[in-house]
Amino acid sequence: MAASQKLYAALFHVLLLSLFPLKAKSSARAQAEALIQWRDTLSFSPPPLTSWSRSDLHNLCRWTAVSCNPTSRTVSRINLSSLNIAGTLARFNFTPFTDLTAFDIQNNNVSGTIPSAIGSLSKLNYLDLSANLFEGSIPVEISRLTELQYLSLNNNNLAGAIPFQLASLPKVRHLDLGANYLENPDWSKFSMPSLEYLSFFLNELTSEFPAFITNCRNLTFLDLSINDFTGQIPELLYTNLGKLETLILSTNSFQGPLSPNISKLSNLKNLSLQNNLLSGRIPESIGSISGLQIVELFNNSFQGNIPSSIGQLKHLEKLDLRMNALNSTIPPELGLCTNLTYLALADNQLRGDLPLSLSNLSKITDMGLSENYLSGKISPTLISSWTELTSLQVQNNLFSGNIPPEIGKLTRLQYLFLYNNTFSGSIPPEIGNLKELSNLDLSGNHISGPLPPTLWDLTNLQILNLFFNNINGKIPPEVGNLNVLETLDLNTNQLHGELPQTISNITSLTGINLFGNNFYGSIPSDLGKYMPSLNNSNHLCCSAMFPKKPNSLVKSPK
Ligand SMILES: *[C@@H]1O[C@H](CO)[C@@H](O)[C@H](O)[C@H]1NC(C)=O
Ligand SMILES: *[C@@H]1O[C@H](CO)[C@@H](O)[C@H](O)[C@H]1NC(C)=O
Ligand SMILES: *[C@@H]1O[C@H](CO)[C@@H](O)[C@H](O)[C@H]1NC(C)=O
Ligand SMILES: *[C@@H]1O[C@H](CO)[C@@H](O)[C@H](O)[C@H]1NC(C)=O
Ligand SMILES: *[C@@H]1O[C@H](CO)[C@@H](O)[C@H](O)[C@H]1NC(C)=O
Ligand SMILES: *[C@@H]1O[C@H](CO)[C@@H](O)[C@H](O)[C@H]1NC(C)=O
Ligand SMILES: *[C@@H]1O[C@H](CO)[C@@H](O)[C@H](O)[C@H]1NC(C)=O
Ligand SMILES: *[C@@H]1O[C@H](CO)[C@@H](O)[C@H](O)[C@H]1NC(C)=O
Ligand SMILES: *[C@@H]1O[C@H](CO)[C@@H](O)[C@H](O)[C@H]1NC(C)=O
Ligand SMILES: *[C@@H]1O[C@H](CO)[C@@H](O)[C@H](O)[C@H]1NC(C)=O
Ligand SMILES: *[C@@H]1O[C@H](CO)[C@@H](O)[C@H](O)[C@H]1NC(C)=O
Ligand SMILES: *[C@@H]1O[C@H](CO)[C@@H](O)[C@H](O)[C@H]1NC(C)=O
Repeated sequence: MAASQKLYAALFHVLLLSLFPLKAKSSARAQAEALIQWRDTLSFSPPPLTSWSRSDLHNLCRWTAVSCNPTSRTVSRINLSSLNIAGTLARFNFTPFTDLTAFDIQNNNVSGTIPSAIGSLSKLNYLDLSANLFEGSIPVEISRLTELQYLSLNNNNLAGAIPFQLASLPKVRHLDLGANYLENPDWSKFSMPSLEYLSFFLNELTSEFPAFITNCRNLTFLDLSINDFTGQIPELLYTNLGKLETLILSTNSFQGPLSPNISKLSNLKNLSLQNNLLSGRIPESIGSISGLQIVELFNNSFQGNIPSSIGQLKHLEKLDLRMNALNSTIPPELGLCTNLTYLALADNQLRGDLPLSLSNLSKITDMGLSENYLSGKISPTLISSWTELTSLQVQNNLFSGNIPPEIGKLTRLQYLFLYNNTFSGSIPPEIGNLKELSNLDLSGNHISGPLPPTLWDLTNLQILNLFFNNINGKIPPEVGNLNVLETLDLNTNQLHGELPQTISNITSLTGINLFGNNFYGSIPSDLGKYMPSLNNSNHLCCSAMFPKKPNSLVKSPK
């Protein structure tokens, strides 16, 4: 290298050294001023932002919510999440923030439109505007943010078509446009193969399944729920999206069968397809998706059997098949899903006995089998094993036999619905152990015998429905212990005697029906005070029930 060249090089170096900090200094100053100017436009600026001070411009890098690039000393990240900020971005001067990589203002009250000037943040890789009050459409200028990897506009009031220009963002891995009012773009212009997380949840999308999604082979999370997507779930989804862990297509109008190829989604953990128009059989192959934890298929038109292969799903925690047309027996293999906490099979056409293997479901908290044609006894073995149950609903089936005394072991039970079956025998005294019980409905059975004295220990009861049975005996004064009771319906039994005065202690009572028993005497005088609805016309507590003294509280119909 010649001497002169060396000199030049040295000079150039000096020049660089002196220019660089200067430039940085001036852009840092411009950034600090831009932040303050914007802060001053806010209608609410939270106390932490008082650290943004004109007298402290040189300490920019120590300001709340600001992080700097350690070499350039200019702002690299702004994180204003959850500060309760109210205002707009209209007067945020983005121009000085040439090095900004992250802009996070999630969970504030920022309103107005998303300014198109945001497109000048050319180094931005993380943009989170979620949980604010942004409105208007998504500015196409967002597509200039070519470094973007994370984009969340979730939970705003954005409307209009999703700009197809988003598809030119080559690096986006996380795209969340959920909970807005967005409409269909021309999906054919989309292609975002880098996506790993995609949510269009709760918008106004009405197209067929957007084909581009089946080319996003790195997707692990896909949520299209609560839109009005139509047509079939494309076969390519199963073929291409083998990395999916979460697939949520619920509350749309998807139709047609569920392909056996769903088993190609071998990494799937959560599958939610409820509230669609899917039909045909639940494919047996579902049992080979061994990591499944949540399977929600309710409110579709699935028919045929519950696949016994479901027993292979050792991790299954929630199985919800309600509101379909399944007409098999409950496969004994279901008892192998020992991690199940939530089993909902209500509102199908299931038949046969409850398999004893279900006694292996020792973690079950919610058991919903109502509205089917299930029959046989509810065995003491089963009941004894389900000690975590908070809700047991078997109403509207063909169950028979006694209510097993073992029911007293279910001390967490809050809802016990056995109504409209053919249970017989008397109410076991052990029921008094169920101190958490708030809803007890045994109506429409063949239950006989007296009310067990322990019944009045259930002081959390809000609803006590025992109507349409053959229960006899009296209502004791202890009924007054049920001091949060709202509904007491004992109609059509063989109860007799006088109604104890203590019943008027139950100030929460809003409905009472004692019709069709053999009570005599008068309605306790205070009873009606809390029940403006207590009148002749509502079929609750009517004079026919008190033949001796028609009650003064019963208003005569106008
Ligand atoms: C911003 O801060 C919140 C709360 O600490 C955090 O959850 C979020 O990840 C941060 N954002 C960025 C871009 O670092
Ligand atoms: C943000 O909006 C919520 C709901 O509209 C409101 O309760 C709250 O006061 C607002 N906060 C500010 C700082 O305006
Ligand atoms: C998908 O993920 C793999 C592994 O992380 C990565 O190498 C590949 O580039 C990704 N594909 C796209 C299109 O981003
Ligand atoms: C399942 O996938 C295979 C190959 O990928 C294909 O040949 C077959 O038609 C698919 N099944 C259905 C029901 O579409
Ligand atoms: C599946 O859903 C459960 C419960 O909502 C959640 O805890 C879990 O993180 C989800 N798993 C995946 C992979 O999304
Ligand atoms: C069942 O799903 C359909 C279609 O999404 C919906 O319109 C309907 O309200 C759902 N029914 C219930 C009971 O949720
Ligand atoms: C169950 O439903 C399937 C499909 O609709 C039907 O073919 C079958 O005959 C039904 N089985 C019974 C026992 O009703
Ligand atoms: C069962 O569930 C528990 C808690 O949800 C979890 O820690 C455990 O790993 C699960 N077991 C299996 C086999 O999935
Ligand atoms: C309960 O599960 C065990 C294995 O976990 C199995 O051997 C046993 O047969 C099951 N019990 C019933 C009644 O199916
Ligand atoms: C109980 O069965 C009766 C007679 O079949 C029916 O009218 C009534 O609606 C059922 N009750 C409930 C709550 O489903
Ligand atoms: C319950 O009712 C009885 C008889 O009406 C009355 O003597 C008693 O004081 C009441 N108890 C309470 C706690 O209100
Ligand atoms: C009480 O009776 C009147 C008519 O006399 C009726 O309009 C009203 O709905 C009844 N109240 C209730 C709760 O049934």
